[in-house]
Amino acid sequence: LAKHTVGLIGGGQVARSHAIGFSSIPLFYGSQITGQIGVVAEATEELASAAAAKLGIPRWTSDWRTVVSDANVEIVDVLTPTYLHKESAIAALEAGKHVICEKPLASNEADALEMYEVSKRSRAKTLVGFNYRRVPAVTLARQMIQDGRLGKVHYIKSRFMEEWGGPAFPLTWRFKKAQAGAGALADLGSHSLDMVRFLVGEPKEVSGMVSNLIPERYPPGEKVKARSDVDDQTSAILRLDGGTIAEVSASWVAPGRKVDLGFEVHGSEGSLAFTMERPNELDYYDGRDPKEVQGFRTIYFGPAHRYGSSLLFSTPGMGTGYVDSVTNQMRDFLEAIESDKECSPTFYDGWKVSRLIRAILESSEKRTWISVE
Ligand SMILES: NC(=O)c1ccc[n+]([C@@H]2O[C@H](COP(=O)([O-])OP(=O)(O)OC[C@H]3O[C@@H](n4cnc5c(N)ncnc54)[C@H](O)[C@@H]3O)[C@@H](O)[C@H]2O)c1
Repeated sequence: LAKHTVGLIGGGQVARSHAIGFSSIPLFYGSQITGQIGVVAEATEELASAAAAKLGIPRWTSDWRTVVSDANVEIVDVLTPTYLHKESAIAALEAGKHVICEKPLASNEADALEMYEVSKRSRAKTLVGFNYRRVPAVTLARQMIQDGRLGKVHYIKSRFMEEWGGPAFPLTWRFKKAQAGAGALADLGSHSLDMVRFLVGEPKEVSGMVSNLIPERYPPGEKVKARSDVDDQTSAILRLDGGTIAEVSASWVAPGRKVDLGFEVHGSEGSLAFTMERPNELDYYDGRDPKEVQGFRTIYFGPAHRYGSSLLFSTPGMGTGYVDSVTNQMRDFLEAIESDKECSPTFYDGWKVSRLIRAILESSEKRTWISVE
C-alpha cells in the first residue's frame, strides 16, 4: 500500500471529512493508495490534542510551522478559517509540499492570486476543496455536457441555498468580511461559482447584488450584539461567451433548503437538473426523444459511472453523499501525485473563483457590470 503522509492545519468541522476521506480510499476502491494523517496543528495545545484524539491522529502541535517543516509530511492540508489559509499554504509550497487548501482559497482576490503565483513557481501539486465537483452525478453532468448531449449550452442556474444562518446563529469568523471575504457568497456561493466554471465555462462579466439582512449577531457566549458586515444572500448574473448566461445565487437564510447545492442547465437539445439534497440523482431531458415520450428522466448513480466502483453493492441508487465526494477528491489527488499529472481544481481555479467573488462585491457596491476577462 502506497501511503502518503498528510499533515492537517486546522482540526475543526471540515477536518473530519478530510480524515474520513483519506482513510476511506482503500475501503472504497480497494486501491493500493492511501493518505495517512501523521500530525494535526490547531490554535492551542488543548485544541490540538482534542483534534488528534477525535480524528485518530498520532501527533499534534499548536504551531502549524511544525507541520510545514516536518520532513515526513508530503501533503499539507490547510483547513483553517479562510483568512488564515495564505500564510501556511505559501509556506508549505515553499517547503516543497503538495498542498490541499479549503475553499474559498483566500479572503480576498489579491491573496488568492499570490497563492496561485507561488504555486506556479513550485513543482508541487495544489488542490482547492471544491469537493462537489466529485459528487458522481455532477461529474456525470459535466461529461454529458462535454459529449454534446445538451447541444449548445445556453443557460445555467447555479445555486447554493441553506437555512441555518438566521439571527440566532452566532457571530463566528464566517460573518466578518475581513476574515471570510464575504458571507453566503464566499461560504456557499464559491461552490456555485466553481460549478459554473466546471460545467459550462469561464464567465467574462458579472452583475451582482449582495444583501446583508442580519447586520448584528451575538458573538459566541456574549450578551451584546456586534456587527456582521457580510451578505446573508447574494444573486448575480454572469455573461459567458456566445450569449450563454449564468445565474448564481447563495443564501444561508432559505427556510426549508437544507443543502440545496443545485443547478439547472439548458442547452439547444436538452437539459440537466441536480440538487445535493438528492445526491444520487441526475435529471436529464433529451429534446430529441420522440414527442410522445418526452419528459425528464432520472439517472441514478451506479456502477456504470465514474466513481461507481466505490459502491458497496453494484446497484444504482444504493447511496453516495458528501463524504464520498471528499474521498473521491482525495483519491484523485493522490493518484495525480503518483502519476505526476495535474488534478483540478488547482490554486488557479481557486484564484478564478476569488476573482468572481471580488467582482460580484464590486458590482453590487458600484451598481454596475464588472469585467473579469
Ligand atoms: N468544502 C466544503 O464543503 C467545506 C465545508 C466546510 C468548511 N469549508 C472551509 O474549510 C475552512 C475551515 O472551515 P471549518 O468549517 O472547518 O471551520 P472551523 O472554524 O470549524 O475550523 C477551523 C479550525 O481552525 C483552527 N485554527 C484557527 N487558527 C489556527 C491556527 N493558527 N493553526 C491551526 N489551526 C487553527 C480553529 O481552532 C478551528 O478548529 C474554511 O475555509 C471553510 O470555508 C469547506
